[in-house]
Amino acid sequence: LTGEQEHTTDRLARSGLTRRGVLAGAAMLGVGAGLDHVIAKAPQTTTVEAAQGSGSAEGVVAFYGAHQAGIATPAQDYLSFAAFDLSSETVEDLRSLLQEWTAAAAVLTAGRPYQQAPQEPSQPPGDTGEAIGLEPARLTITIGFGPSLFATPSGRDRFGLAHLKPPMLAPLPAFPGESLDPHSSGGDLCVQACANDPQVAFHATHQLARVASSVASLRWTQLGFGRTSSTSQAQVTPRNLMGFKDGTDNIHGEDTTAMNDHVWVAPHDSPSWMTGGAYLIARRIKILFDVWDTTSLEGQQRTIGRYKLTGAPLGANNEYDPVKLTATTPNGEPLIPANAHIRLANPQNNNGQRILRRGYSYSEPTEPGSGQIDAGLFFIAFQRNPQQQFIPLQHRLAANDALNHHTLHTSSAIFACPPGTTPNGFIGEGLFT
Ligand code: HEM
Repeated sequence: LTGEQEHTTDRLARSGLTRRGVLAGAAMLGVGAGLDHVIAKAPQTTTVEAAQGSGSAEGVVAFYGAHQAGIATPAQDYLSFAAFDLSSETVEDLRSLLQEWTAAAAVLTAGRPYQQAPQEPSQPPGDTGEAIGLEPARLTITIGFGPSLFATPSGRDRFGLAHLKPPMLAPLPAFPGESLDPHSSGGDLCVQACANDPQVAFHATHQLARVASSVASLRWTQLGFGRTSSTSQAQVTPRNLMGFKDGTDNIHGEDTTAMNDHVWVAPHDSPSWMTGGAYLIARRIKILFDVWDTTSLEGQQRTIGRYKLTGAPLGANNEYDPVKLTATTPNGEPLIPANAHIRLANPQNNNGQRILRRGYSYSEPTEPGSGQIDAGLFFIAFQRNPQQQFIPLQHRLAANDALNHHTLHTSSAIFACPPGTTPNGFIGEGLFT
């Protein structure tokens, strides 16, 4: 290294990154940020390396594995979601981008800067820097492919991948009552970054957007706070912005039977490159607080089908008491109303189908002059087959759910998240083999 580079690595070391980490990163990741160079393999010992970096190994979620992290992982507190459109039309650029995103994700989730050292002072910093010194914060980065990657709306197959498109990756149909903004819907690629520190989550999408900038541009982004689902037995059920416990009857990541039945794409599901992956549905759902906040407590509880304070199903005492859809009042009315959200969403009314909900609350600047809070649920759900899971479920909800008086779907997207990878591979590799 030159004296100047030594100086820079020393400063990075003082900011929480070890000199060894910088040099190792330099050696492993090669020099230069372009996508046209061969990308070296990402580090293998993420946990050990992270302990030497800015954070403790405790806050590290393993990046490599059969499945991508960020699906079965207990939901973290913050989300930074980004959808991208590819500007390049060559399959080599797509492949290089996925290789580089994988290398970056392995480093960032281990709690280290994606510093393709040595740093030239005359060049922009290799890592944007806002996470230096922060804990890994259980960062996960989950990558997905939109239907337009395989065929544009006009049917163009830009990358020669149309024959690999999963049948269940069709664009979502229109649902009654939605009011979608096309500019914050869809996308060729997505990155879901979740962490227990909002700046760590933001840094991940910022860094991946920068890495991609010569071949893909941001289409839309969404920040989320306050996870709205528990996705682990170890988690207390959080409350959504309507004040209700959300995620009581969710799939938990530890429930391998439910994960295999309802979330992970199975070997006999087609196409084979998706085995071990899952389909992500995102819906930004605005809560109409002017209506909701003036609804009686009883009305709110009948809308959801649960008590607000305890989360127990109507007619029961405790949060985890079974939902009895057949229970009636003394005068024969269903205790859980016919249009209650949990009745219509219940697996008993949906051919036994379940989804893994992993959404976040969001809040946007108030539209000038509206006087209204612009906030709600950034709904994210993972599943094995949206054609049999989200789509029929959402048709049922859109037709009758009492919640529709209080919500408006404003953004929508579907992505195929391929399986996880090893230190010798990259996310989405199955598309190219
Ligand atoms: C702003 C919109 C929404 C809000 C505020 C909301 C809120 C809730 C709440 C409070 C529960 C009960 C607690 C629980 O079991 O998690 C629940 C359950 C559920 N929701 Fe939603 N939800 C919304 C949208 C959706 C959408 C769009 C879907 C799927 C298309 C959905 C699917 C489900 C399912 C499957 C359950 C579990 C039902 C059961 O098994 O009992 N929700 N939701």
